[in-house]
Amino acid sequence: MWNNNTPHHLLLISFIFCPFLTAASLDLISTTQILTKDQVLLSPQAEFELGFFSPGTSNAWYIGIWYKNIELQTVVWVGNRDAPLRNSSGVLKISAANGDLVLLDDSGKLVWSANYSSGGNTVAELQDSGNLVLRLENDASPDNYLWQSFDQPTDTLLPGMKLGWDSKTGLNRYINSWKSADDPSSGDYSFKLDIYGFPEVYLTHRGAIDYRSGPWNGVGFSGVPEMKPSAIVSFLFKMNPDEVYYSFQLHNKSVYSRLTVNYSGALQRFTWIPTSKIWSLFWYAPKDQCDVYKECGLYGICDPNMSPICKCIKGFKPKNLQAWNLRDGSEGCVRITDLDCGNDGFVTLNNMKLPDSGTTFVDPEMNLDQCQQLCKSNCSCQGYSNSNITNGGSGCAIWATGLYDMRQYTAAEGGQSFYVRLAASDLEPVVLGHGNSSDKKRTLKIAGIAIGIGVLLASLAVFFLWKKGKSKTSQGSISEHRVPRSQDFLMSSPTIPSKRDHSKETAADELELPLFDFDTIVAATENFSQANKLGQGGFGSVYRAMLVEGQDVAVKRLSKSSGQGTEEFKNEVKLIARLQHRNLVRLLGCCIEMEEKILIYEYMENKSLDSFLFKKNKSALLDWPRRFNIICGVARGLLYLHQDSRFRIIHRDLKASNILLDKDMNPKISDFGMARIFGGDQTEANTKKVVGTYGYMAPEYAMDGLFSVKSDVFSFGVLVLEIVSGKKNRGFYQTNNHLNLLAYAWGLYREGRALELMDADSGKSYSASEVMRCIQVGLLCVQEQAEDRPNMSTVVLMLSSESASMPQPKNPGFCLGRRPVETDSSSSKQEESCTVNQVTVTMMDGR
Ligand SMILES: *[C@@H]1O[C@H](CO)[C@@H](O)[C@H](O)[C@H]1NC(C)=O
Ligand SMILES: *[C@@H]1O[C@H](CO)[C@@H](O)[C@H](O)[C@H]1NC(C)=O
Ligand SMILES: *[C@@H]1O[C@H](CO)[C@@H](O)[C@H](O)[C@H]1NC(C)=O
Repeated sequence: MWNNNTPHHLLLISFIFCPFLTAASLDLISTTQILTKDQVLLSPQAEFELGFFSPGTSNAWYIGIWYKNIELQTVVWVGNRDAPLRNSSGVLKISAANGDLVLLDDSGKLVWSANYSSGGNTVAELQDSGNLVLRLENDASPDNYLWQSFDQPTDTLLPGMKLGWDSKTGLNRYINSWKSADDPSSGDYSFKLDIYGFPEVYLTHRGAIDYRSGPWNGVGFSGVPEMKPSAIVSFLFKMNPDEVYYSFQLHNKSVYSRLTVNYSGALQRFTWIPTSKIWSLFWYAPKDQCDVYKECGLYGICDPNMSPICKCIKGFKPKNLQAWNLRDGSEGCVRITDLDCGNDGFVTLNNMKLPDSGTTFVDPEMNLDQCQQLCKSNCSCQGYSNSNITNGGSGCAIWATGLYDMRQYTAAEGGQSFYVRLAASDLEPVVLGHGNSSDKKRTLKIAGIAIGIGVLLASLAVFFLWKKGKSKTSQGSISEHRVPRSQDFLMSSPTIPSKRDHSKETAADELELPLFDFDTIVAATENFSQANKLGQGGFGSVYRAMLVEGQDVAVKRLSKSSGQGTEEFKNEVKLIARLQHRNLVRLLGCCIEMEEKILIYEYMENKSLDSFLFKKNKSALLDWPRRFNIICGVARGLLYLHQDSRFRIIHRDLKASNILLDKDMNPKISDFGMARIFGGDQTEANTKKVVGTYGYMAPEYAMDGLFSVKSDVFSFGVLVLEIVSGKKNRGFYQTNNHLNLLAYAWGLYREGRALELMDADSGKSYSASEVMRCIQVGLLCVQEQAEDRPNMSTVVLMLSSESASMPQPKNPGFCLGRRPVETDSSSSKQEESCTVNQVTVTMMDGR
């Protein structure tokens, strides 16, 4: 921008002594005030400037806008991108003839203009947003701008700029790449909003789609689950009859961020790092093969964590098996059974990027149930989903054409549920299909749905909580839901031995457990509507419901395969209802009618531990004192189950998602009675049905089906190490260069660096000795030999006392494949035998 011929000392002098003499900067362009090569147009707060530039080694000159305060010249807009000046001698001015903003070359020939021609006293000014506007001199209202550069983007979307459509002018703003680093002329790649159907943004290469963002689902684009608003940036998607657009806003004036499409065909979001004076790449797309448009063809799902990456939707098979086996999924999949329109059902795909939605029909007012009805009633409907996933989901989107370009995300990444229409005969069994892939990890061989497994989502919202004393006041609000015969049924049931003082209980008290009638439950859950569904697990589905008094409850409708008779079920439920401890969630009541077996718990807002612990933006809510409180609380709850209650209960599926948090973040163990309720042959200490969750299972249980209080202790140890580190044991080796969390913790401990295990998110105020104690307890609990693990009463003592003596842990038993007991137990040898792939146990792929 500086005139290169200006002698340096002169420049310096003028700068130091009389900054305004560097009046090479204008604040306005008008008929009289023209911009030439030695001048710049500056925005009022000096955020941006506009001037003449020549990129790289080229000889061509352009007018452009760049950041004023960023040392590295970063051009965000180019006016005459397709009509360069041959030299720097151009003039940008207001045409006296028609008020247009025009760029003239050295011969006075028109090179570029804003293309406005209605006359009037116009001026052009550059705003601090980076927007160059042409307006009437005496009218600064944004609504009356005659032209603005934000309506004619180059390759960069700045904060406040709209990517999208204006129905009044018919304008569809989009960004388009430069041709090369030195050539800002219109390039091959564009990022453009498609306003049809369920709007989404396409990255195109010479008009052909390379990548799609997925439709806007209320939070972000369906195919960009990592897009989350923060304190610094928020994203906006507007859709109304006047306009449809995407935009973003920054909330901190000293932060610079921009979205560009580069000339090699990628979207990039950069943030300026002032200290190191570089643009740091914050996000980009496409980022992997699964981002490639239609990678897995029609009805195919792309999952980058699988090999091969393409799978067919359940109920579909590869169209060209040979190509499919050669890793070419582009021909996609076909239905195994044709739809018959009448009796079709739906399969739920979770954590999906929604399919291409260019022809999708959207009704923002419908709920998911109505959506399913709508889909069912239209024979060409192939699938549906919520159109908005905020607040539990709303709106309806319906796909009446083939389903393309779906992508599988992990639960941690996000994505949303999508429902695909299938012929009834393709709906069984419950396990989602994966083409003919024999991927072991994904093949859910459920050894027995009996107990313990897959309660993940279900457990999120299930609480055995009733207010202290409710048990004494059996005529409380809930009892109003009793049906007359409930008393009869309860009275006639055999007496369950109780630890409580019998003398204080009447016979009726003894048997009290409010029995709800089925109609009440149906009404409270709006007929088990999808909208009220909180989750689904191996035991059945969980719904949120509201009782007439306005009390929120969670309703667990057990699947019919419990294999238990009604009488046994009643007994078990009453037994479970008797377990009362502040660290156990509480049962409020139940319902048994015909085939239905339903449990009612109080609903609480803070959900499960894993929804805090493993979530980047939430884990900081768990500071160390809270974490320690949770560890101690779970220990006390487990001790109660193991020892203090009359009926020894072995949980068998203790994990972060089964620990629920009340409003004060106190932990409560959930699903602890499910093993009994789904009982049957589970009373022996050995079972052929090994169930549980990968990552939490003790070796002897995983390998030999031996369970005991000590296998629960093992799971507790894993949980403790997870709480301390904020890292999941499961999947640990994928993100860290260590076999698993236990091995990692053990390694640090052995080297005397155990404190490094601590999650940085747990804050700075902690007692190092408390943390150390927890880590040591955690390691002792995960010892390979069950007899080396402490029992829960020792654990509680060790946690609560500074002075309790603790044995030194040995190697943890973290292997999935167990070392034969007779092998000498030198640590190196033991670690060698631990291979992650030796999964020979059938297990649920739970969270
Ligand atoms: C804005 O960002 C700067 C630089 O990152 C930071 O120092 C400052 O604290 C931020 N201001 C606010 C209000 O967040
Ligand atoms: C375009 O962006 C992608 C993704 O960040 C990057 O890999 C590529 O090198 C970029 N191309 C150029 C020319 O900068
Ligand atoms: C089915 O849905 C498609 C797409 O929304 C629509 O074009 C068609 O008219 C519908 N058919 C019926 C019978 O409603």
